[in-house]
Amino acid sequence: MSTEKTLILVKPDGVRRQLVGEVISRIEKKGYVVTALKMMQADRALLERHYAEHQGKPFFEPLVEFMMSGPIVAIVAEGNRVIEGFRSLAGVTDPTVAAPGTIRGDLARDQGTKVVQNIVHGSDSPESAAREIEIFFGK
Ligand code: RTP
Ligand code: MG
Repeated sequence: MSTEKTLILVKPDGVRRQLVGEVISRIEKKGYVVTALKMMQADRALLERHYAEHQGKPFFEPLVEFMMSGPIVAIVAEGNRVIEGFRSLAGVTDPTVAAPGTIRGDLARDQGTKVVQNIVHGSDSPESAAREIEIFFGK
């Protein structure tokens, strides 16, 4: 049976608000398996690699500053179609309009900050997942 992996981050807002357990619980209750997990302080070099696709965008610097503002939790979750499935659990990027029932829809809102703070990150393709898992966990 084919399986798939995704890289999930609980961002600094999620850690500050003590939502690590809530996020892991939603991943596990959906039926995905957590196969790697660590709390860490991300540095600029790591974040510039992770968010390379956003370099040059107006929210890039605020995004990096936000992601360095406190510890994050990096998670690898596995299961068939977990990339798509976790993006569905997370909800859309803007928490104001993320559907109720999703992590962002239930747990986040616009705080008027320079960059949207939305609790979690999830890889958006198999190629991104492989790249991001290597950045956070190595080969
Ligand atoms: P993520 O990568 O964190 O899972 O989120 P995403 O795919 O839903 O959103 P993406 O477009 O990849 O953007 C990455 C993160 O940058 C912040 N962002 N702010 N216009 C804005 O203020 C803006 N656009 C993006 C968010 O924190 C977003 O999750
Ligand atoms: Mg993204």
